[in-house]
Amino acid sequence: ALISMRQLLDHAAEHGYGVPAFNVNNLEQMRAIMEAADRTDSPVIVQASAGARKYAGAPFLRHLILAAVEEFPHIPVVMHQDHGTSPAVCQRSIQLGFSSVMMDGSLGEDGKTPTSYDYNVDVTRRTVEMAHACGVSVEGELGCLGSLETGMAGEEDGIGAEGKLDMEQLLTDPEEAADFVKATGVDALAIAIGTSHGAYKFTRPPTGDTLSIQRIKEIHARIPDTHLVMHGSSSVPQEWLEVINAHGGEIPETYGVPVEEIIEGIKHGVRKVNIDTDLRLASTGAVRRFLAENPSEFDPRKFLKETVSAMRELCIARYEAFGTAGNA
Ligand code: G3H
Ligand code: 13P
Ligand code: NA
Ligand code: ZN
Repeated sequence: ALISMRQLLDHAAEHGYGVPAFNVNNLEQMRAIMEAADRTDSPVIVQASAGARKYAGAPFLRHLILAAVEEFPHIPVVMHQDHGTSPAVCQRSIQLGFSSVMMDGSLGEDGKTPTSYDYNVDVTRRTVEMAHACGVSVEGELGCLGSLETGMAGEEDGIGAEGKLDMEQLLTDPEEAADFVKATGVDALAIAIGTSHGAYKFTRPPTGDTLSIQRIKEIHARIPDTHLVMHGSSSVPQEWLEVINAHGGEIPETYGVPVEEIIEGIKHGVRKVNIDTDLRLASTGAVRRFLAENPSEFDPRKFLKETVSAMRELCIARYEAFGTAGNA
């Protein structure tokens, strides 16, 4: 059944688990996520970005998610709009039947320019008024996502601040977060604590301090009833980089957020964990390997099936690691 984000994250908070929010753009991702949830008895958050809407079209995405609900009626599903850049964008998603929207007012409508605190409060509060009237949940964002190592937001083509960010911007301020939640009424808050979007988060192997767990604790202590969201939470599996590079790919050395650090975050109030890049890496690896090993195959179902199982295994691993499994 389709449920709101609030319903799901309240349950997650009560039982101390986190929920991966996987981005969905096509049938194969949708199948992988649902099969993994089915096997592990996990509730699901699927989210559609502006890029996904541009690729597949909002009606196709909507029906893909509704088809998942129809085929897996025993799995609770949140249909979430990722990184809305204006109240108007969120309004269209609410009209389409999304049960949750993100109003990312930390950046302007271009998805690149950091905004003022007052602007962020204004667009987020307006979105909450509209969404709550329809039973739809709202995620806001305060702070600028960016790697604590590189100071960069990551994503070249998607959502992210341009240029190098300073320490002040890279960590959400706990007092400001408390103010923001009070002024806007958001159900969930995305915070900046060292993650960034995309595959190029860190240039060196992680040593256990990728995230500012300290900052997560401080924010959670200040707003214990607000569900915290971690964007940019892909772990960039080294095994998949090896598979890609062994079969014609050229991805330079790079590292993501270790699963163990995400688990630490979940202990301190993180409830929604956004993952997109890891599914992209797994499916690219699966396609490259299959086509390299089966050069005469040309039926796309053959290699797309490989992407489904690669992504499904990754989703299962995250559902188990985050404690989502068993909570559907
Ligand atoms: O917010 C970033 C997500 O990874 C979505 O990226 O806009 O390329 O679909 P996208
Ligand atoms: P990754 O690029 O780390 O997968 O993050 C995805 C995300 O935050 C989508 O909103
Ligand atoms: Na931001
Ligand atoms: Zn994001």
